[in-house]
Amino acid sequence: MITTFQQHIQEQQQEVSEASGTFSYLLAGITLATKMIQAKIRLAALDNAYGAIGQTNVQGEQQQKLDVYANEALLHCLGLKDSVAALVSEEDEEPVTFDRSLETGKYIIVFDPLDGSSNIDVNVNVGTIFSILKRQPHGDLNASILRPGHTQVAAGYVVYGPSTVLVYTVGNGVHSFTLDNTIGAYVLTEEHMKMPDQGSYYSTNEANAATWPQAYRDYLELLRSGGLGREYSSRYIGSLVADFHRTLLKGGVFLYPPTSKQPNGKLRLLYEANPLAFIAEQAGGSAVGGGSVNKACSRILDILPEGIHQRTPFMYGSKREMEALAEVLGK
Ligand code: AHG
Ligand code: MN
Ligand code: MN
Repeated sequence: MITTFQQHIQEQQQEVSEASGTFSYLLAGITLATKMIQAKIRLAALDNAYGAIGQTNVQGEQQQKLDVYANEALLHCLGLKDSVAALVSEEDEEPVTFDRSLETGKYIIVFDPLDGSSNIDVNVNVGTIFSILKRQPHGDLNASILRPGHTQVAAGYVVYGPSTVLVYTVGNGVHSFTLDNTIGAYVLTEEHMKMPDQGSYYSTNEANAATWPQAYRDYLELLRSGGLGREYSSRYIGSLVADFHRTLLKGGVFLYPPTSKQPNGKLRLLYEANPLAFIAEQAGGSAVGGGSVNKACSRILDILPEGIHQRTPFMYGSKREMEALAEVLGK
């Protein structure tokens, strides 16, 4: 018999929240929005939904029509949930807040509505990434948002590929679901996923290698020269969620180091690195970042955020590759 995502969340309920049903009702807002997004993506070419809308977002990036659609779908579906105190999106400069009491508005959802925007028009996998934080009883909403990633109550992503796959954790292992459009439900495909101890792919944008700190070039040379006891191949999709999903399943390492153009890294801490780092650790891997061109890295989930759109260098992967990276960076 099948297990749907909603059923699975209810089984995990005791792990996350004392309020039975609130949490699964909240997550239903995310799954509904992702079903709307995947439907829009699959027919985008027929719907004139490709291309830019002709304005830039807070990131200074050209907003794609699908970025805006995905953002609006999530804001709409989640805004209706009483348990939401605030929504933090890559596409909105400030958090969207709701005037709800401490007892009602218990959660803050942080998300990258459409990850991999540069791949939308070429029909390559893109995704949605989300992270759920608990509202704190004291301080303003920002005090509840700017907390280290190890305080997340849940994290997950949906990768819109040949199939639509949702992966999540509430701190009790990593579980994946496949969207079955015939019944309109995410159906459990794998529980307690574990990254292999070592993979055979490294994943990075090598066009930036010339301006990385030397240690990252040394590390890549170590992988290429068989220094970890096996041959590596390069795989870089350019959609973080797709590169992450492959690493979760096959192992290996992903690197987005500091560059001269972006000395503090390109990827965003709150809605890209933190949720994926939580999943990586729950699956037996690890994730580091937070350094800069001349500052060592630390565990992503320990970084205290200073701003909701803060960027970070971001490296994640399986045990063997991350041990070797720590060694090379520690030198
Ligand atoms: P987004 O589309 O949400 O802005 O994210 C794009 C990110 C991430 O998906 C990917 O890993 C990275 O940008 C690719 O950056 P480069 O093109 O610089 O390699
Ligand atoms: Mn992104
Ligand atoms: Mn995005």
